[in-house]
Amino acid sequence: MTTPIIPVITIDGPSASGKGTVAQLVATQLGFHYLDSGALYRIVAFATQQKNIAWSNALAIADCAKSLNVVFKNEQVLLDNIDISNEIRTEAISKGASEVAVHAPLRAALVDMQHAFCKTPGLVADGRDMGTVIFPHAPVKIFLTATTETRAKRRYQQLLGKNQPANYDSILKDLAERDARDKNRASAPLTMAKDAFLLETDHLSIAEAVEFVITKYKNNKKSA
Ligand code: DC
Repeated sequence: MTTPIIPVITIDGPSASGKGTVAQLVATQLGFHYLDSGALYRIVAFATQQKNIAWSNALAIADCAKSLNVVFKNEQVLLDNIDISNEIRTEAISKGASEVAVHAPLRAALVDMQHAFCKTPGLVADGRDMGTVIFPHAPVKIFLTATTETRAKRRYQQLLGKNQPANYDSILKDLAERDARDKNRASAPLTMAKDAFLLETDHLSIAEAVEFVITKYKNNKKSA
């Protein structure tokens, strides 16, 4: 019996580009599994903070990641059976995730966990290094982006919509800092894979972005 080839669609891009929303909708439309790899770095930032492990301590962070008891249940993220879905989405943990993500030992510790998401009938994986490092043989790779200003505006509106405090200037500054750290780190930096399609979403709706990805996937399937 031959092993089935599992189709993988990777969607990489900077923070707050909307790639998570697009990836989830594509996965739902195709009936594929979904990997939110950023959530893994967020969980690690949260778990290490709880254990008073500094976000600069590469080896202790990697050890903590290896022993994580995490379950993804529908939309929920459970750590030691406690729902931490909201806790990992704060601005402080967004910054922490970007800080812990620079450490190569942590990135290595998370590889198997990410590969385990690749199951039939297929996977949509979003992050920073999905197409370059984790699933380099994925048949469809997308690099989804928007200007820092567009992303900051979207995040600002999102926070206002949730009745949370929001300051556009500090959001813009935080995003620029996170982009710089994610792009310039030595280990698996944010970069567009050579064979990825560029999708700039400044003037696109979510539905149009989803359509773009699905079309690329269908075209690839036809030509395979
Ligand atoms: O996608 P996100 O905003 O939830 O990711 C949070 C941080 O995690 C991001 O700033 C960098 C890191 N990350 C990463 O280094 N590699 C990934 N594949 C996904 C996220």
